[in-house]
Amino acid sequence: MPRVLSCIQPTGVVHLGNYLGALRTWVSGQHECDAFHGIVDLHALTVTDRPGVLGTSTLELAATLFAVGLDPDVATVFVQSHVPEHAQLGWVMECTVSYGELSRMTQFKDKSAKREADFISAGLFTYPALQAADILLYDADEVPVGEDQRQHIEITRDIAMRFNGRFGKTFVVPKIITPRAGAKVTDLQEPTAKMSKSAASDSGIVYLLDEPSAIIKKFKRAVTDSDGEVRFDRTEKPGISNLLEILAACTGRTPEQTAAGYTQYGPLKADAGEAVVDVLTPIQHRYRELMGDQAELSRLLRVGADKARSVASATLARTYSNIGLLSAE
Ligand code: AMP
Ligand code: TRP
Repeated sequence: MPRVLSCIQPTGVVHLGNYLGALRTWVSGQHECDAFHGIVDLHALTVTDRPGVLGTSTLELAATLFAVGLDPDVATVFVQSHVPEHAQLGWVMECTVSYGELSRMTQFKDKSAKREADFISAGLFTYPALQAADILLYDADEVPVGEDQRQHIEITRDIAMRFNGRFGKTFVVPKIITPRAGAKVTDLQEPTAKMSKSAASDSGIVYLLDEPSAIIKKFKRAVTDSDGEVRFDRTEKPGISNLLEILAACTGRTPEQTAAGYTQYGPLKADAGEAVVDVLTPIQHRYRELMGDQAELSRLLRVGADKARSVASATLARTYSNIGLLSAE
């Protein structure tokens, strides 16, 4: 059974891009693999400086992960800061990656440019080292993520190979897994930009907890083009292609098959909106139920952290030993 690991940050509300690009694959894969999924609050610290917010958003995100269908009896769902080995291996990873490699990360360039005059933490720069630790601690074979994470998985592979070359075989070199449709959902108002929690305006972002009427409205107002032809072509027709891909992802077809059913933009927008509402409505019901019992959510996260620690602590011990750090025993 392959070991799978992927994580999500507790920043802002989960959106359709997170769901179609990542969470849906985590749920569908959980029975065919040994799945570990982390809520990476220490990663969120790279852009959070207000007290008290991360705990609440961590609990809400846990409810979201169970609401979309992760089964706590099958998958291990844990909070990163509950498993101290992440920060510990993170340091080792920082010493295995170069300044030059980190400087080439587009996520760092984008996020630091967006923060402009704001505080840019060193953690934002070294972020991929901590992400490599998240993955390598669990001997993950596969990492299911959206397309935007490709560079981070590549650097993790490079770090793992470099470490194995220096200190002997220690880490499994992981593979990226992206979904066939939905790997890069774009903003409905700005269809060349990815749907993102840090966008300037909410009008092109579909949140998992949006009211059905708001979802339908956002799809109706989606930016398209003026040539009037329904065709899947990400470069020439980014708006229409995004709608086709969303509808395809919700209905289990390909974007090309989906395009064949439409000659006009209006019905495509309406059907995409309805398909999303159909997918999200049961998730929203479960979310509300789960948030009604926060003690149970905390208990599930404690169970997840215990399972995660038993794997992570063995990997960290093996790492220290292979480096040849002096044992404390
Ligand atoms: P984040 O919200 O940045 O922690 O991302 C959590 C997961 O959602 C990662 O696997 C991302 O690759 C994925 N993701 C984020 N935005 C999108 C998007 N617009 N389209 C597809 N996947 C996405
Ligand atoms: N960097 C990822 C994102 O922004 C989140 C993340 C952190 C992650 N650690 C990870 C994803 C490990 C996959 C595996 O979406």
